[in-house]
Amino acid sequence: MKSVTVPRINGDRLWADLMALGEIGFAPGCGVTRTALSDADLAGREWLVGKFREAGLEVRTDAACNVIGRLGSGPSGMGLVALGSHLDTVPQGGKFDGMLGVLAALECVRTIRGAGIQLPWHLEVINFTDEEAAHNAGTVGSRAMMGDLSDGELEKSLKEGRPSFAEDLRKAGKDPARIGEARRDPAEFSCYLELHIEQGARLESQGVQIGAVTAIVGIYRYLVTVEGEPAHAGTTPMTLRNDALVKAAPLFTLLPEWVKARDPEMVGTIGQVELFPGATNVVPGRCRFVVEVRSQRTADMIYLREVLKAYAARREGWRVETILEKEGTPCAEPLILAIADAAAAEGLSCIRMPSGAGHDAQSLAAAGVPTGMIFVPCRRGVSHSPEEWIEPAQAAHGCQVLLRTLLELRDRA
Ligand code: GLV
Ligand code: MN
Ligand code: MN
Repeated sequence: MKSVTVPRINGDRLWADLMALGEIGFAPGCGVTRTALSDADLAGREWLVGKFREAGLEVRTDAACNVIGRLGSGPSGMGLVALGSHLDTVPQGGKFDGMLGVLAALECVRTIRGAGIQLPWHLEVINFTDEEAAHNAGTVGSRAMMGDLSDGELEKSLKEGRPSFAEDLRKAGKDPARIGEARRDPAEFSCYLELHIEQGARLESQGVQIGAVTAIVGIYRYLVTVEGEPAHAGTTPMTLRNDALVKAAPLFTLLPEWVKARDPEMVGTIGQVELFPGATNVVPGRCRFVVEVRSQRTADMIYLREVLKAYAARREGWRVETILEKEGTPCAEPLILAIADAAAAEGLSCIRMPSGAGHDAQSLAAAGVPTGMIFVPCRRGVSHSPEEWIEPAQAAHGCQVLLRTLLELRDRA
């Protein structure tokens, strides 16, 4: 590929933004908690809107609460390139998962404008709502934009006592009944690019600076409910109990065995368990938990789903409900090549690799938008943790590759 002249992004400015945003929802020892549509998330969005405006972007918030900053360029109808990720975090998360993609895209806009570069398409920077599954299935904003929400999912909370997405959306000033207005035609997008931390240790362990993502993992999730009978923990003899936790417990260790036996690259997790009524002196009357499996291979996830369903069907009081069945999604080959070329032109080492984490990019790719993802290493591969960390130079490398990829695409447009 012929190399184009690409201005340097300002790594200090990007880092300062990451650190400033990382203060919103931060508590010492607990990392950042900015779960989707929480007060902290709303504060983060307000901060972002200010930054977007400062950078000269036209800002709007769509019906799914996605924050969209637009740099209009050239005559209308020339297509659209979108960059983005998410600002919401898991409970007690880090300062980079999602934020890096949004703030690096913002830094690209500032660099492009500072250099007086005219793009042949409109450019949008998007902060997608609820990537992290705070309410139910996750990637809500990006799926809403691609018209891929399931019936009733917005009204259902996976955690007792926690508001649903619909309730939180209303609190944020949007009408859930109108979420369909967030939908856009995938054909509107020439492509979508997302920079993200790897969230695994492959790049770091191989001493590689950039990952060009080939495909994003598939995710199947199920809500399992096991019914028992609540009873007094002091007066109910062991032989007379119908303890929902005791009934559910064998599955907690069986799941990893099923997954390992099927495919060493597949993963399976039970990361959320609730007991009802949930008191020290009450025998659990109900146990509710979420089973998640991830694989690039749909057949493996279907196999696990059927094993789980058969196990539940053989037992009394078990119910399995589907939360999410998202297939593994390939990235667009021309974009994978463009990212690898951009890394090489920047003198950065690069490998092609799949993503084991889910991303908003998957929603766009699944809808047919040509999609590319850039990974940078994170320390020890740790993510979804207060320990999540990258170095300023790694953030800058990723951002520079994002900008170069964009400008190389411009020259091919
Ligand atoms: C999102 O970070 C996910 O992979 O669950
Ligand atoms: Mn995440
Ligand atoms: Mn993320």
